[in-house]
Amino acid sequence: MPAKLIKGTEIREEILEELTAETARIKKKYGVVPGLVTILVGENPASISYVTLKIQTAHRVGFKEVQDSQPVSISEEDLLGLIAKYNADDSINGILVQLPLPKHINEKKVLTAIDPDKDVDGFHPVNVGRLMIGGSEVKFLPCTPAGIQELIVRSGVETSGAEVVVVGRSNIVGKPIANMMLQKGKGANSTVTIVHTATKHLDVHCKRADILIVAAGVPGLVKPEWIKPGACVIDVGVNRVGEKTNEKTGKKVAILKGDVDFDKAKEIAGWITPVPGGVGPMTITMLMKNTLKSLKFKLGIS
Ligand code: GUN
Repeated sequence: MPAKLIKGTEIREEILEELTAETARIKKKYGVVPGLVTILVGENPASISYVTLKIQTAHRVGFKEVQDSQPVSISEEDLLGLIAKYNADDSINGILVQLPLPKHINEKKVLTAIDPDKDVDGFHPVNVGRLMIGGSEVKFLPCTPAGIQELIVRSGVETSGAEVVVVGRSNIVGKPIANMMLQKGKGANSTVTIVHTATKHLDVHCKRADILIVAAGVPGLVKPEWIKPGACVIDVGVNRVGEKTNEKTGKKVAILKGDVDFDKAKEIAGWITPVPGGVGPMTITMLMKNTLKSLKFKLGIS
């Protein structure tokens, strides 16, 4: 039987509706809404489109949203000054600096300047440490791993005692999702293995996985015969493998392919995320969840 499709586009709608309702409840009771600022440096087209979508989504769920666009020539000092301003702004609960930054700016320095209690990306070392400790220490989970965990939980996949294999060890996806899945608690409590470019017998590890999370950035890396029948396969890869013309608009659009051979894998897996429309839509959704969480922490409500 073909795998159940884990549709990120549908789960996104479900979560955004929940966030909209909760934002309205908080506004009624406390007279405040979450505030999100996105700082964009320069005019990278991909960054502009991501930031636009973040702002539109924040608006949709009822947040105060601020788009702060800065020229590519902004100095590191001025950018740090801008972050200090938003750190001190009581109406702002979440600060996001869109990456990548121009080469003359030290990305690490900038991310570390954000108040950890407004770091809705979850990239600040303090939040990385909190994630490692787990439990009540955790404030903000990084958005893509948090989205992956939501997809797994909302699809009813058992995680407790499950063999989870994570392909890829990036700071943004591989390492945090592996950490999250091994914590005690809901949607976790798994036995976790991380595999990477130096791993021997990648296939042997993947074949053991009840939940296979692939974030390698290599199109079609995971072969169908590496998938355990009935496993849950989460494909985080978004690889541009070519271009096609959109029949309606006449515009060129990228052809995207995941890290898993989807067409064959779906005949073996129990659950699988498509690319696009699987993990992708969850990242911005979880950014909204973090921003609301930030306000709730401030108000002392859960
Ligand atoms: N650039 C691409 N993805 C992201 C993200 O999730 N957060 C930030 N800050 N920049 C990005």
